[in-house]
Amino acid sequence: MSKVTTIERHILEQQASFPDATGTLTSLLYDLALAGKLIASRTARAGLADILGGTGIINVQGEEVQKLDTYANNAIYRMTNHAGRLAVMGSEEAENLIPIPDRYTTGKYVLLFDPLDGSSNIDYNVNVGTVFTIFHRKTASGPGTLEDLLQKGSEIVAAGYIVYGSSTMLVYTTGQGVHGFTLDTNIGEFLLSHPNIKIPAKPKYYSVNQGHYSRWSEGVKRFTGWLQGEEGSPGALSMRYVGSMVADIHRTLLAGGIFYYPIERQSPYGKLRLLYEVIPMSAIIEQAGGYASTGYQPIREVQPKELHQRSPLFVGSRELVEKAEEFIAKYDG
Ligand code: AHG
Ligand code: MN
Ligand code: MN
Repeated sequence: MSKVTTIERHILEQQASFPDATGTLTSLLYDLALAGKLIASRTARAGLADILGGTGIINVQGEEVQKLDTYANNAIYRMTNHAGRLAVMGSEEAENLIPIPDRYTTGKYVLLFDPLDGSSNIDYNVNVGTVFTIFHRKTASGPGTLEDLLQKGSEIVAAGYIVYGSSTMLVYTTGQGVHGFTLDTNIGEFLLSHPNIKIPAKPKYYSVNQGHYSRWSEGVKRFTGWLQGEEGSPGALSMRYVGSMVADIHRTLLAGGIFYYPIERQSPYGKLRLLYEVIPMSAIIEQAGGYASTGYQPIREVQPKELHQRSPLFVGSRELVEKAEEFIAKYDG
């Protein structure tokens, strides 16, 4: 039998290279993997919700059957709020910061997450995901504050995502490469299937909501033309677009290429959320040898000012993202 590496073993082995590590981050990552398994199991049954909810919308525990966004949000919150590892949390589904309940001690990390990304795809049995980011707290002690959550990508301690697709995969980085695990549903474990992922040098796909073409700037339109095979381009790339950012960036990571969600006429800041989506996915792609930009500056340098701030994003193979910056500088000024 060849070596089987569970996610727990992998995280522990990575921890061994940090001599001062206390195991807190390891435990936190493991809690998130567990939350991922809960969400995977629930999303796999999404189509059955109406059938199994036949007695109304109250489940056997006497609780209301929840939308999957809410379920996923609560799963992550409940798995991580009580163990003294976190000072505060932020979620795409919560308007304000999420404090740690008074009865528990606070810890040295903070967690930001998008519990269910691409949730508009749920009804059609199309991939969805979860995204998480971990920073060190900035304040010294006591309940965490907004200051602890509003940190730049360059400060990331760990980031990861879980994609619920034909199989469930968890991909994470603690700054020592990007590693992917596939959930073996028979034994209920994430097993290392994609060690040390590097984004391929040769790009394969571009990924964007091209239905929004008429809302784009001149630079983005021309860049897209270049990707399609205009002079000097790497050759006409094929397009793939799921509409779940996690799935679209996961494919970009493994196949090579670019994913972008630019500024649009009606949305001058773009659509994606800086803290919950853009910063973590960018950190992962950069760890894998790619690059992420707003079109004007590296994502990792953007200082978040608000929890739900939006940002344009160009992420993937370095050569393509730099080309997007070039087109934007030339045509959009
Ligand atoms: P969420 O489901 O967490 O609100 O995120 C949806 C996002 C993202 O996953 C995706 O890339 C984008 O919305 C798709 O938007 P369009 O439908 O405008 O392409
Ligand atoms: Mn999302
Ligand atoms: Mn979401």
